[in-house]
Amino acid sequence: MFVSDALNVNEKGHLTIGGVDTIEIAEQFGTPCYVFDENQIRKNCQAFVSSIEENYDGKGLVCYASKAFCCKEMCRICDEEKMGLDVVSGGELFTAIKAGFPMGKVIFHGNNKTYDELLMAVQNNVGRIIVDNFSELEMLEGIAKEKNITVPVLLRIKPGIEVHTHEFIRTGQIDSKFGFALETGEAMEAVARTLNAKFLELRGVHCHIGSQVFEIDPFKLASSVMAKFIRQIRDETGVEMKELNLGGGFGIKYLTTDNPEKFYEYVRCVSVVLKRECEKQGINLPFILFEPGRSIVGAEGITLYTAGVVKKIPNIRTYVSIDGGMADNPRYILYQAQHEIMVANKAAWEKDCAITLAGKCCESGDLIAENAPIQRVHVGDIIAVLSTGAYNYSMASNYNRLPRPCAVMVKDGECREIIKRESYLDLIRNDI
Ligand code: LLP
Repeated sequence: MFVSDALNVNEKGHLTIGGVDTIEIAEQFGTPCYVFDENQIRKNCQAFVSSIEENYDGKGLVCYASKAFCCKEMCRICDEEKMGLDVVSGGELFTAIKAGFPMGKVIFHGNNKTYDELLMAVQNNVGRIIVDNFSELEMLEGIAKEKNITVPVLLRIKPGIEVHTHEFIRTGQIDSKFGFALETGEAMEAVARTLNAKFLELRGVHCHIGSQVFEIDPFKLASSVMAKFIRQIRDETGVEMKELNLGGGFGIKYLTTDNPEKFYEYVRCVSVVLKRECEKQGINLPFILFEPGRSIVGAEGITLYTAGVVKKIPNIRTYVSIDGGMADNPRYILYQAQHEIMVANKAAWEKDCAITLAGKCCESGDLIAENAPIQRVHVGDIIAVLSTGAYNYSMASNYNRLPRPCAVMVKDGECREIIKRESYLDLIRNDI
């Protein structure tokens, strides 16, 4: 019935998450409020880690893509679950450092890492830097040389694979700002240059085909394209790549009708293809890395809002305005993303109305859902938007000087704040 096993309805007819009444959470912490279920997040981590153990003899590392939802507590949870961490900025790296995350298990991504960010990564002995382009390669080599440190590197490759997902989150095709292209020979040139760089240790290659991908075939194809590339590298340079990072992008349930594959299936299929292809190419099985973000946290988080206004426009539509919107969830305005919505205090009622859920920003496009089925809404109701665990808090802004909401973690019937609500003082902290 629900997009996540964490969600249910209690005897009062209220939506629960991790066994806790969402109405009590709203009363205790206020709205808007992001709420996450810790047990379910941990289960997702464990599902990935054990899939690699079962299908690939444990020769791999699952690095949580922290861009999906980054805070110190997520870093701590990932560490406890034996995960690595994918960071894409000095800010995400700083968060990991402050959370005490083991730096050897951090991988650093980005298509325009600055000098300062690279220096920070090198000085903190980040486990792997995923180099995206030639300028970065040069800059990184300079830093490594100056610091007299050998830096472990993977190269980001565009494998030339198109996937069926929103064009903004498609990344594997040649027309992309990310990585070195295979087709043009750029990727091989990057390999040669890295092998020549004395202070860089080329560990392997990386690709990421896109995000919210439901099909398994593009992942299988990427694995086989990359295995062939590893063989080509060996043939042309005599060096065999030890690691293959296949990125993230595994689709999740946003609507109850969505039917994503289990992680286990992705890992199993990719393992089968890799084993077959490596044997065919006569290369050793590489150590594999994955970078799931959305599939770790996306369906395990919800946002609670309070309905402030119900505006019926006869024969047109009914707008329900909430105390948040595009500032805490810009996914509808960016991608026309679909999320299930419900009245949390009437979760047992039938969804016999259709509304447009509007935010409170001064912008007509500030919507969370259009024509979405929901229970009858009254002013003061608590509205839950589901599957907001990924790319909501992390993409939130202070537009209209709205303070970012707090984030609450639920575990075994208990709640605790993991990110405080911003105050008005926070908003002017850097004003001069
Ligand atoms: N690795 C790389 C290199 C990536 O670029 C991404 C996502 C991931 C891993 C994690 O992908 P995931 O498993 O979370 O799908 N803001 C968009 C999603 C942008 C994804 C960017 N890269 C959204 O709200 O749908």
